[in-house]
Amino acid sequence: MNTVWMTVAAYLVGSISFAVVMSALFGIADPRTYGSKNPGATNVLRSGNKKAAIMTLIGDGAKGWLAVWLAIRYADQLQVGDMTIALVAIAVFLGHLWPVFFRFVGGKGVATALGVLLGLNPWLGLATLATWLVVAFAFRYSSLAALIAALFAPFYYGLLFGVEPQLFAVVIMSVLLAYRHSQNISNLLAGKESRIGSKSAGAA
Ligand code: G3P
Repeated sequence: MNTVWMTVAAYLVGSISFAVVMSALFGIADPRTYGSKNPGATNVLRSGNKKAAIMTLIGDGAKGWLAVWLAIRYADQLQVGDMTIALVAIAVFLGHLWPVFFRFVGGKGVATALGVLLGLNPWLGLATLATWLVVAFAFRYSSLAALIAALFAPFYYGLLFGVEPQLFAVVIMSVLLAYRHSQNISNLLAGKESRIGSKSAGAA
C-alpha cells in the first residue's frame, strides 16, 4: 500500500512544471509559446532571463531529488524496498514529462533526471553532471550533452551498484529522455540545433 501512494505522490510532485511556474513568477512569457516550446531551463534561458532559467533548473532538479531522497530516507519505516524506490524515481520523472497539472504537456526531463540520479546517489549524479558539463562545454549543445549523459548514466549506476531495480529505473529514464529529444536529434543531424545561450531554437 505504501508503494502505491508513494508512487502517486512522486508523480504529482513531478507534475509541477517549474519552467511554467518560474516564468509566471518572473513575469516572462510561457516557455511553451516560444523557442523550442519546451517547458525546461534551456528554453527559459532563451527568454533572456537567466535567473528564471536557473530557478527552473533548480526547481525541476530539486523535485526529482526530493522524491527519491525521501523514499530512501523513509524506506525502512515505511517497509518498502528497492522496487519502490525505483518506482518513485520513474514516477517523478514521468510526472515531469506528462504532468497532470498541465494537460500532460511536459518537459524533456534533463533537470529532473539529474535530481533523481543525485537522490539515488550523489556520486552517480555528479558523474552524470560532469559528463553533461564536458559535452556542453565542448560542443555547446544542451541537448547533445543531455543525450550523452543519459547514455552514460546506466553504466555509471551498474559500475557503482550492479544490477538492481534502480538500474532499470535509470535505463527507463534514459530511453524516455532520448525519445523526448527526437526533434533535437533531428536538428543535430541536420546541423540546425541551436547552441546554449542562443536566443533562437532549432526547429521545434
Ligand atoms: O533541457 C532540454 C534540453 O536538452 C533541450 O532543450 O529547449 O533546446 O529543446 P531545447
